[in-house]
Amino acid sequence: MLRIGVLVSGGGTNLQAIIDAINSGEITNAEIEVVISNNKNAYALQRAENAGIKGVLVSPKDFEVREDYNKALIEELDKYNLDLVVLAGCMVVLPKELIEKYENKIINIHPALIPSFCGKGFYGLHVHEKVLERGVKITGATVHFVDAGCDTGPIITQKAVEVLEGDTPEVLQRRVMEEAEWKIMPWAINMIANGKITVENGKVKTLNTDN
Ligand code: GAR
Repeated sequence: MLRIGVLVSGGGTNLQAIIDAINSGEITNAEIEVVISNNKNAYALQRAENAGIKGVLVSPKDFEVREDYNKALIEELDKYNLDLVVLAGCMVVLPKELIEKYENKIINIHPALIPSFCGKGFYGLHVHEKVLERGVKITGATVHFVDAGCDTGPIITQKAVEVLEGDTPEVLQRRVMEEAEWKIMPWAINMIANGKITVENGKVKTLNTDN
């Protein structure tokens, strides 16, 4: 059984998609041990509670120096003997020590087709504003492993989504979530839980995609 910890910051719709996929059997061999939020007002914490999953707040605001927050976050994660850490709308920059300790065990969902519209400063609604500003016709979402860079880790899967005439950032964000994010994140977790994803020479190899 793959033991998962989910890091969240906001609404938690990706967390919900994972919970639903575990409950429906779309994801097998996996369970969520803990949901950790950096934001006390994150609705994601309520979603965890509703699903009977432990929710924990570890906020940088509760620590005077960043190092102490980093240490507390790692200590909290270490409690659960996790096989996978899922960043589901997590808006904090993860400590380097955490990324090293959990090498190839942290995955992130990004609301664009990496390497477009990613990197420092590209998160949430802002990504879709930039996509619309540029007049891009196809966008999408990416699930990738997290390495020391910003959105640079090995790509697990991507899904394209059309940008339509008259889209606002909010409308486009919703479409990218519905058509891409809520599908590819559960898919990626299921593949990892069933031993079908490996990383070789910095690239993801996917076995038996027909499941
Ligand atoms: C999602 O669109 C996710 O892709 C994005 O934040 C949103 C969180 O929504 N993540 C990033 O931008 C990370 N760079 P949610 O809380 O409803 O899952």
